Amino acid sequence: MTSLNEETIRNKLVKCGQEHLLAFYGDLDAHEKSALLEDIDGIDFDLMSRLYARAQHGSHDMQQEGTCDISPLRGVDSTAMPAPQKEKMRALGLKELSEGRMAALTMAGGQGTRLGHTGPKGTYDIGLPSHKSLFEIQSDGLKRISAEAGRPVLWYIMTSHINHSETESFFREHGYFGYGKENIIFFRQEKIPALDRSGRLLLEDKHTVLKSPNGNGGMFSSLKKAGGFDHMKKCGIKYLFVCGIDNCLVKMADPLFLGFKVSGGYRAVAKSFLKRTADEKAGVLCMKNGHPCVIEYTEIPEDLAALKNEDGEWTYGDTNVLNYIFDTDLAEELAGEGLDYHVAVKKLKYLDTDTGKNAEIPDGYKFELFLFDAFSKIDRLGILRIERTEEFSPVKNKTGIDSAESARVMYMNMYGDGSRDCMEEIK
Ligand code: UTP
Repeated sequence: MTSLNEETIRNKLVKCGQEHLLAFYGDLDAHEKSALLEDIDGIDFDLMSRLYARAQHGSHDMQQEGTCDISPLRGVDSTAMPAPQKEKMRALGLKELSEGRMAALTMAGGQGTRLGHTGPKGTYDIGLPSHKSLFEIQSDGLKRISAEAGRPVLWYIMTSHINHSETESFFREHGYFGYGKENIIFFRQEKIPALDRSGRLLLEDKHTVLKSPNGNGGMFSSLKKAGGFDHMKKCGIKYLFVCGIDNCLVKMADPLFLGFKVSGGYRAVAKSFLKRTADEKAGVLCMKNGHPCVIEYTEIPEDLAALKNEDGEWTYGDTNVLNYIFDTDLAEELAGEGLDYHVAVKKLKYLDTDTGKNAEIPDGYKFELFLFDAFSKIDRLGILRIERTEEFSPVKNKTGIDSAESARVMYMNMYGDGSRDCMEEIK
């Protein structure tokens, strides 16, 4: 039980105009009271007011800033690599895997707002004949590679405070997809309060402040807080493969990618594919002020977006795929780097302190860290360019582009249904 004092917290709230958070304090039991006081005490009010100022000011536009020195960062094209070179690279990666040096980490803490699926995104069924979920698709990929490597690849799954228990139950109910409970580690990512348009904090229920997961860039510090790096050290893990949950074609723990990293002497590598049009809605990899960076399509000046090299290839064409490998000691260093929050305008469901009823605003402020912002702390980032149709089909929307529909077609093209019975249980 906390020893926090109601009056101290109330005074703190009054000072920053947030005393409505205690609107239902009188209705709560002792346990709920202390939970709420503790929740409020943990909020960094200075940070929240800085973030609100930023949200009101709007996002920075690189073209207006005019202070950045942008230069290209080209990927090594794996699709043009001679077969023997590729095989050698893959063998090198597989050897590391067979010695147990790489773990995989799936970032599954997002809320999947665009998809509109209730429940963790990884539980989503994209409509394959087997009806396997995105989690099962990834476990299939890991099973394939573990069978080749002769040992299971340790699998970390980052959840959020919103979907953690549901994710764990889903795995339990599905017998961990035969991957072995002991090979899977779930950990929660950190959270940050959301704000309404007037900068007010909101309640989720009478004794909880409304918070949302702090973005995929929260992975480094959340993993550290959860003791992930200590666990990896104990297990002899040197490299960490990182991906999102929603790319149904992701090559889990890809040995070629690892071989590329090891042979190139990189501390971190990212996958990319070439954009199709100058104005494609995706972030591209480049160097900014001497460090690797991803520029969003909204930020890159038009002339740079359309620029081509002598060979006819886009100068700024390597699209960021959300698939990386980091040295674990680098990932741990990045955990202490303190990234900057981005503002996202999103729907918020909350408990109205005036009416005491559940309510919704369409355009509240959420705050997210982006993993690729950590690139600015890395001197050298290796980029491996892959074939988009073979490795990239994200499930973002219900229908149309990057939807379950498109993912189903692309998955069937690559793997057929990938039915369950061809997979051996991992021992
Ligand atoms: P997106 O940025 O596409 O977000 O996440 P999302 O939650 O899946 O979907 P929308 O934007 O709400 O519609 C890309 C990857 O990063 C993970 C997601 O789970 C997905 O794998 N992610 C995102 C986290 O793990 N935590 C976060 O806080 C945000």
